[in-house]
Amino acid sequence: MGTKRTSRSRAWVARQEKDPYVRKARASAYRSRAVYKLEQLHQKDRLFRRGMVVVDLGAAPGSWSQYAAVKVGSEGVIIAVDRLSFQPIAGVIQIQGDFMHAPVLEVLDKALDGREPDLVISDLAPNLTGVHSVDQAATEDLVVAAGRFAASRLGPKGAFVAKFFEGSQAASVRSEIGDLFQRSQVRKPSASRASSAEVYLVARNPVGGGVSVTDR
Ligand SMILES: C[S@@+](CC[C@H](N)C(=O)[O-])C[C@H]1O[C@@H](n2cnc3c(N)ncnc32)[C@H](O)[C@@H]1O
Repeated sequence: MGTKRTSRSRAWVARQEKDPYVRKARASAYRSRAVYKLEQLHQKDRLFRRGMVVVDLGAAPGSWSQYAAVKVGSEGVIIAVDRLSFQPIAGVIQIQGDFMHAPVLEVLDKALDGREPDLVISDLAPNLTGVHSVDQAATEDLVVAAGRFAASRLGPKGAFVAKFFEGSQAASVRSEIGDLFQRSQVRKPSASRASSAEVYLVARNPVGGGVSVTDR
């Protein structure tokens, strides 16, 4: 077991060292290579504009919020939520907690202060157990709850971007999100490793109708 874990972590370190996006992130001020996925999604889908109100769900360690803060500029608002604490980012309102818990949602809504966000981005990922069916279900719960949050708070022209995983649950995730938004597409940015099942949904124009984050 110990030997297996050691060789797995050695392989992980070797992969990190070779990864051009890891090197690029290290050479920049960005905290994670994940930023390049968001950058590529923005290049394709024109997600950000100056002055936007953006909610970043599952924000730690913060590279997506760092990128969003640059894109929206000082006239924009970024609200970043994560169960984990992370280093402050200039111009970003940080909330620590589980976005599915009512008291955390209350704090989030207070921070929105009556504004409708223009964009909700979600790179949420559950703590993996290694049991495939459990991890798939936890991932689906997160993305659907994030979609429900987005659909219930976004303005009519708002957009939602979320990571999910291709696999046995993918059709059900797409159909649940498809019911909440008028348009949705699946993207695989090149910064997302080909060996990973992760893909991103870009959905626009919520259909509205008062959905709850915790209803399934
Ligand atoms: C892949 S990381 C996000 C990386 C981030 N986009 C970046 O660029 O730095 C996924 C995050 O989702 C958070 N997360 C998972 N479930 C959550 C929940 N229910 N509420 C808040 N955060 C959650 C985890 O704590 C983790 O930090």
